[in-house]
Amino acid sequence: MDGEVVGLGHLQPARDLPGELIETGWCVRPDLWRQGLATEAIRSLLHYALSDLRLPAVWALVDSENAPSIRFAHRLGFLSVGERPLDGGTAQVFVRPADSPL
Ligand SMILES: CC(C)(COP(=O)(O)OP(=O)(O)OC[C@H]1O[C@@H](n2cnc3c(N)ncnc32)[C@H](O)[C@@H]1OP(=O)(O)O)[C@@H](O)C(=O)NCCC(=O)NCCS
Repeated sequence: MDGEVVGLGHLQPARDLPGELIETGWCVRPDLWRQGLATEAIRSLLHYALSDLRLPAVWALVDSENAPSIRFAHRLGFLSVGERPLDGGTAQVFVRPADSPL
């Protein structure tokens, strides 16, 4: 796998939530799913955002039909705080507050 891109995780000003909020998102190459790659990557991003940058929270929008990502978000300590329309469907709004253990 040396040098190959296997997925991505981002941290950026929210696009579909109020712009002062910081959102994350994730994606891993399908042939490498269920090996812990997304967990490792997004835990590192959360640590950077919440511990190093001292942000109060990180937000994420996940398509309401996307069961793997919803389960993934819960597993990383994101709380589901509502739903909103997104791209013709519905997205769950998640927040990961700084005051819960990483
Ligand atoms: C969500 C995604 C990033 C998970 O990547 P991954 O590297 O396979 O994740 P991990 O191996 O770290 O898995 C962590 C947890 O995610 C959840 N999960 C991952 N794949 C799942 C699946 N197919 N079904 C149910 N839960 C799943 C589980 O809770 C899993 O923990 P477990 O294996 O102990 O049950 C990957 O499925 C993906 O890229 N999906 C498509 C892109 C996407 O949906 N992006 C989000 C847009 S908002």
